[in-house]
Amino acid sequence: MTEGVKRVAVVPGDGIGPEVIEEAVRLLERLRETHGVRVELKHFDWGADKFLKEGVGLPEGALEMLSDEFDAVLAGAFGDPRVPSNQHAEEILLGMRRGLDLYINLRPVRLLHERLTPLKGRAVGDVDFVVFRENTEGSYTGMGGFLKKGTPDEVATQEEVNTRKGVERICVAAFEYARARGRRKVTMCDKSNVQRFGGDLWQRVFREVAARYDGIEANHQYVDAAAMFMILNPAQYEVVVTNNLFGDILTDLGAALQGGLGLAASGNIHPGRVSLFEPVHGSAPPLAGKREANPAGAILSTALMLEYLGHAEAAAAVERAVRESIAAGETTRDLGGPLSTPEAGEKIIGRVNGKS
Ligand code: NAD
Ligand code: IPM
Ligand code: MN
Repeated sequence: MTEGVKRVAVVPGDGIGPEVIEEAVRLLERLRETHGVRVELKHFDWGADKFLKEGVGLPEGALEMLSDEFDAVLAGAFGDPRVPSNQHAEEILLGMRRGLDLYINLRPVRLLHERLTPLKGRAVGDVDFVVFRENTEGSYTGMGGFLKKGTPDEVATQEEVNTRKGVERICVAAFEYARARGRRKVTMCDKSNVQRFGGDLWQRVFREVAARYDGIEANHQYVDAAAMFMILNPAQYEVVVTNNLFGDILTDLGAALQGGLGLAASGNIHPGRVSLFEPVHGSAPPLAGKREANPAGAILSTALMLEYLGHAEAAAAVERAVRESIAAGETTRDLGGPLSTPEAGEKIIGRVNGKS
């Protein structure tokens, strides 16, 4: 590997994935000139087309290849109406999250312009928190089964897995982030009033971890109440930590608070290892091929990736460019603007100008 050059696996995926990733790739090319960001990109065609043609979701050996040869993965979205089982998406996306042990799903919820939030009378600083979603266990392990399937007596079980190690490391990640970024409160959301065993473990481990972090308030909310308070009073949140399923749901809510799924970014991270960056949105089949999708979620995910790869200044420049484009009304239709996907991408990229 060339010194200083980072290797990024690009997996555009399905639906609007390729359209938004194309803009992210153009952005990376631009950053080479403006900020000396040196990344070597290699594209992979994993997705529904390949799955339908070859029956392959995540190819054999892919996880080892990613760990051995790459610093990061930049992905679009996975999901296609032609694969109703969602099997390929599960293999690829959940396969990478679990197989690469990417235990932190980092999902910032940040309002970039006050006109974008559906809430009344909120300023940008009122919506500014980060969700730490546990990303390798919970309801996502695929454990469970059927009994008497297809009969009137059918039983379906879906297990939720919570390990001490898994709960502890996501809580530690949330507190470490709070400490590093000067955030003073971490809120843990669960449903421990009903989920007695998993919830009990989360409660105990959260308190134990919190005790190691002086000066950071450890707050707890039941997740149903949190879903309400995020709308009524989002300013109370700084860092949120929660399990895989609740984190999935709360971050779509968070996406709505910041202007919609078109803007929401995420990182699937195992510190020090190859990590995966992708917009929070899915493949949005109704928008696919129409050049209407907002590329900002993919672009802001690329900024998270750049920060992870040690290019904090370039990441900040990208964020600033997105913010300026929004302020200037240079957006796709989901944000009320007139632009197509490539036009919106071009405007953002054009605003990333040199070092600052
Ligand atoms: P979705 O996020 O794909 O789309 C929901 C709606 O949000 C869209 O119809 C559209 O109105 C809006 N939207 C999403 N992204 C947008 C963008 N970039 N610009 C403008 N508007 C945007 O969710 P869905 O419809 O529930 O799921 C579609 C498929 O995507 C399913 O197969 C699902 O499993 C999959 N999915 C994949 C991921 C992923 O790969 N990370 C995430 C969520 C859903
Ligand atoms: C997300 C998506 C995925 C999830 C699906 C597509 C498996 O909704 O990344 O938020 O549930 O994690
Ligand atoms: Mn989701």
